[in-house]
Amino acid sequence: MSWPQLGLFQPGGAPGLARLLPWLLLAVQGLAQADCPCGKPELCRPIRHRPDFEVFVFDVGQKTWKSYDWSQITTVAVFGKYDSELMCYAHSKGARVVLKGDVSLKDIVDPTFRASWIAQKVKLAKTQYMDGINIDIEQEVNYSSPEYDALTALVKETTDSFHREIEGSQVTFDVAWSPRCIDRRCYNYTGIADACDFLFVMSYDEQSQVWSECIAAANAPYNQTLTGYDDYIKMGIDPKKLVMGIPWYGYDYTCLNLSEDHVCTIAKVPFRGAPCSDAAGRQVPYKVMMKQINSSISGSQWDNEQQAPYYNYKDHTGRFHQVWYDNPRSITVKAAYIQHHGLRGIGMWNANCLDYSGDAEAKRQTEEMWKVLEPKLRHR
Ligand SMILES: *[C@@H]1O[C@H](CO)[C@@H](O)[C@H](O)[C@H]1NC(C)=O
Ligand SMILES: *[C@@H]1O[C@H](CO)[C@@H](O)[C@H](O)[C@H]1NC(C)=O
Ligand SMILES: *[C@@H]1O[C@H](CO)[C@@H](O)[C@H](O)[C@H]1NC(C)=O
Ligand SMILES: *[C@@H]1O[C@H](CO)[C@@H](O)[C@H](O)[C@H]1NC(C)=O
Ligand SMILES: *[C@@H]1O[C@H](CO)[C@@H](O)[C@H](O)[C@H]1NC(C)=O
Repeated sequence: MSWPQLGLFQPGGAPGLARLLPWLLLAVQGLAQADCPCGKPELCRPIRHRPDFEVFVFDVGQKTWKSYDWSQITTVAVFGKYDSELMCYAHSKGARVVLKGDVSLKDIVDPTFRASWIAQKVKLAKTQYMDGINIDIEQEVNYSSPEYDALTALVKETTDSFHREIEGSQVTFDVAWSPRCIDRRCYNYTGIADACDFLFVMSYDEQSQVWSECIAAANAPYNQTLTGYDDYIKMGIDPKKLVMGIPWYGYDYTCLNLSEDHVCTIAKVPFRGAPCSDAAGRQVPYKVMMKQINSSISGSQWDNEQQAPYYNYKDHTGRFHQVWYDNPRSITVKAAYIQHHGLRGIGMWNANCLDYSGDAEAKRQTEEMWKVLEPKLRHR
């Protein structure tokens, strides 16, 4: 944009300020939003609306987002490549788009490092017209270690900077299904909850540390999941600071032995001190399991104790597998807790896991999975 040319539009005589002013304003506005990739420049503005109910969606890339249920989504955490088209579209639907934040905890003990990390994230958010950041640190921390306090400080300082620099922005933090040092993540959970807008509770991978029998079990069993929320609330965290994260994926375990009553013994794969873990299994998206289930040897089974579905199949080498997952039924029973305890909302890892091909059966299954996210007072 070249300023000197402005005078050329004035045919004779000194340009009056009154005539120039609208022009200047337009030019300045144009300059500020010159690089806005959206069709309408206002779509580059941060979202300020505060929804009553959060539907927090993780997206890991590609274009499946075009088929999401945008009537429900309030935030998209972009864990794939930045996609300006997704940002513009989300903003047109009033949904926030947030960055992923991950950093080595060894580094953030240094306050100067923290400050530069935060400055860099705020700058990135501004250039990409994002509405905040989701901090996803899944590293080990010991109580009363330097990292313990540094992590709480990081979250507080990130929130302060974002809120100051980007109006209406949102800073969230991902926590394990329970505050009890899961996977050796002994964080200051109350401090972190106070320091950000809300916690996304990852109510999945709940077999990451199995201390009892090494057998295949649900990714997010009913009781275990809800005990985690009870514990967060008991430690003094406001339920409005908790978003329930549900899995749109399951675990496929190879059975060392599959008993007649469907007990699948699995290989001992230790994890962070525990003798066995879900690392013995393989994560599988919902869409893949839905394609496999009809050719399984058991069909879909329901485990009453864990309130979760599973099925058994035999692979081409003759080995038995047991696959545990979540479906509309298991999600609905867990999600009832949201209304009963006044949690802030729901979300999933991750939205890409469903089948968006448009095939009639897939479409029905996909719509049903989105539908159970809707807040409703169940069994009052
Ligand atoms: C936590 O403490 C244990 C035992 O002192 C130590 O072995 C481990 O390295 C510590 N972990 C971290 C992340 O500092
Ligand atoms: C957790 O963080 C808060 C806020 O920084 C602090 O007041 C509190 O003492 C911390 N709790 C523990 C157990 O360190
Ligand atoms: C393996 O499963 C078979 C079939 O149900 C059962 O008879 C057997 O006792 C199991 N073996 C072990 C070691 O659990
Ligand atoms: C699986 O079987 C059910 C029940 O017979 C049927 O409705 C569904 O279309 C089948 N799914 C696939 C992917 O073939
Ligand atoms: C789940 O928890 C409830 C309440 O504590 C208890 O009554 C029930 O027996 C538990 N179910 C299982 C399967 O552990």
